[in-house]
Amino acid sequence: MAVSLPFHFLFFLLLLDRAVYSSSEYLIGVGSYDITGPAADVNMMGYANSDQTASGIHFRLRARAFIVAEPQGKRVAFVNLDACMASQIVTIKVLERLKARYGDLYTEKNVAISGIHTHAGPGGYLQYVTYIVTSLGFVRQSFDVLVDGIEQTIIQAHQSLRPGSVYVNKGDLLDVGVNRSPSSYLNNPEAERSRYKYNVDKEMTLLKFVDTQLGPIARFMEDWFENGQKVSSKIPRRVSTIVSDLNTNRELLDIAASYKSSKGQSLDAKIRVRKASKRTFVSAFCQSNCGDVSPNTLGAFCIDTGLPCDFNHSTCNGKNELCYGRGPGYPDEFESTRIIGEKQFKMAVGLFNKATEKLQGKVGYQHAYVDFSNLEVTVPIAGGGGSETVKTCPAAMGFGFAAGTTDGPGAFDFKQGDDKGNAFWRLVRNVLRTPGPEQVQCQKPKPILLDTGEMKTPYDWAPSILPVQMLRIGQLVILSVPGEFTTMAGRRLRDAVKSFLISLDSKEFGNNLHVVIAGLTNTYSQYITTFEEYEVQRYEGASTLYGPHTLTAYIQEFKKLATALVNGQTLPSGPQPPDLLDKQISLLAPVVVDSTPLGVDFGDVKADVPPKSTFRRGQQVNATFWSGCPRNDLMTEGSFAVVETLRGGKWVPVYDDDDFSVKFKWSRQVKLSPESQATVEWRIPESAVAGVYRLRHYGASKSLFGAITSFSGASSAFVVV
Ligand SMILES: *[C@@H]1O[C@H](CO)[C@@H](O)[C@H](O)[C@H]1NC(C)=O
Ligand SMILES: *[C@@H]1O[C@H](CO)[C@@H](O)[C@H](O)[C@H]1NC(C)=O
Repeated sequence: MAVSLPFHFLFFLLLLDRAVYSSSEYLIGVGSYDITGPAADVNMMGYANSDQTASGIHFRLRARAFIVAEPQGKRVAFVNLDACMASQIVTIKVLERLKARYGDLYTEKNVAISGIHTHAGPGGYLQYVTYIVTSLGFVRQSFDVLVDGIEQTIIQAHQSLRPGSVYVNKGDLLDVGVNRSPSSYLNNPEAERSRYKYNVDKEMTLLKFVDTQLGPIARFMEDWFENGQKVSSKIPRRVSTIVSDLNTNRELLDIAASYKSSKGQSLDAKIRVRKASKRTFVSAFCQSNCGDVSPNTLGAFCIDTGLPCDFNHSTCNGKNELCYGRGPGYPDEFESTRIIGEKQFKMAVGLFNKATEKLQGKVGYQHAYVDFSNLEVTVPIAGGGGSETVKTCPAAMGFGFAAGTTDGPGAFDFKQGDDKGNAFWRLVRNVLRTPGPEQVQCQKPKPILLDTGEMKTPYDWAPSILPVQMLRIGQLVILSVPGEFTTMAGRRLRDAVKSFLISLDSKEFGNNLHVVIAGLTNTYSQYITTFEEYEVQRYEGASTLYGPHTLTAYIQEFKKLATALVNGQTLPSGPQPPDLLDKQISLLAPVVVDSTPLGVDFGDVKADVPPKSTFRRGQQVNATFWSGCPRNDLMTEGSFAVVETLRGGKWVPVYDDDDFSVKFKWSRQVKLSPESQATVEWRIPESAVAGVYRLRHYGASKSLFGAITSFSGASSAFVVV
């Protein structure tokens, strides 16, 4: 599978625009930086099987930062990552760099780093053992690209701070997500469920950033399309140039025939289509309480019979391996991605264009590290009056976890009693421990499969200390949570915080308060269900680490943050999470050497585009090159695959591996062989301009002595009519 971006459910959108508006409340700044990482050999984060490794790029992955500051006051920075989730060790290292650079301006308290939950990015960048089993341990390249990229994007946002305003708008988006554990949801009280129309949240909250001085609002659409699809106001000019220069298809073909496939110089690598155009806005889709939400909107079916899976257990004839969810473009996952992405995009544009409610008021934040392994929580006594004190437990995962979900079987390559597994699993499986009676009692009714909170060899398997954070921009409050809240768990948290804030200060918060959850933020600790969903122990309940009262503990801790926010207090920092970087074990083999067969060189074409060919829009054109492993050079802020067009006798890049129409695929025909191939696939978009084109590949090869050499290659030219 290529690296694609399967949109799950999203929650809110942050956009920058430069427009003419009268007064500004804040200073606003944005940034965006490439965090694509190793596009080969590395397991994709969030997948079960170590064979689900990256083998190319569909979209580049980016980190995007948004800073909002009161001119003379506080500031908050929100970083959105095209990554499965945030990582404690990435957050720690980013904060260290920010401290070295900016002192106390950006700290754990006011910086939120949040993953979008794509399963199509490389893994190995988390520090706890549970989350790096499938990637064969820690992957330094995945980690470095994130830390570097987040730092760069915050620097950009910081340097671009200018007077501006932020607007908020909301609307319901249907048909992009379904509940994948509806039987679990049904265990929530009837009275509570009846307050909601759907079993997943449909509301999208959008933030629109408007620069006070620069440019009209229309720039948003124009720039979006120029950056994205190459349909911009400039196209008529391009068309007319080409039409006058090159009159007929015959002429185009004759011109194309004079450009044979070629190997390029190494110096012009790192081409990037987007670098040529100025990037005036940044947009990001963030995740909320999506723990039980699936983009497989057609439902889950048995791959043997084609019938729907068992409702309560998501099994087919008792087996979970056969039950798979289907996206709207089934069986084409790229098509599913496109359909859902387009719906989200259209919704966002609609909300953007109509956003009129300005965020006004203070910027603020609160943050605390909390030890969730042993936290006292006060809960009402079931069925009676009064309250009692209960406790959360050290982390543990139940049997329901091993089965995985209908979005993909067994999520982290664990099978009990499996003595094969991957190399990393073989290394660590001997430390499996039997939970003591206290832990069994505390986690009830979860049958414990892995007692991860009490497993410390070779280092911690699961976090105990979690960050909880609240960011405030006027009447908007963002709750940063380090995990995946289910739909109902998220509703309870949002409602509790909202009514609590209003009860504390109705003058400040009583008027149109917006409370949103930013999921998968600052670190990762799997799922958070309601108490009732926990009782059912489906995947999400089995993956709720700290026992049945996990959600109640969150609500309790967020109320403390709310109180401190309202009273202007500074909460104690709490216990520091561990920095386990020096302890990490990596078993992923490095690139040893790249080579080509005798008589060919890196960048030479192995399979060219068909000779003398013309293509129509909608058709696909491919070329395959002799290549080196993409891990040799990540081409950060560059491209492996580029589509070029001939303009005024010069080849100009027009699409690259960040375009939906371009796929970069890489493989070794024989496992462990030093020889590899890269294929550039281009599905010619409807918006492509008629003309002469070629496909270009950029790469880098490694010699036996470790030297990295860049190369490039181009296909023969072809004509698009
Ligand atoms: C699912 O489980 C519940 C509770 O055990 C039961 O009442 C219901 O009939 C089951 N539904 C199906 C479709 O099997
Ligand atoms: C390009 O590759 C795809 C899949 O790899 C294949 O289905 C298609 O037939 C190829 N097209 C051409 C024109 O070679």
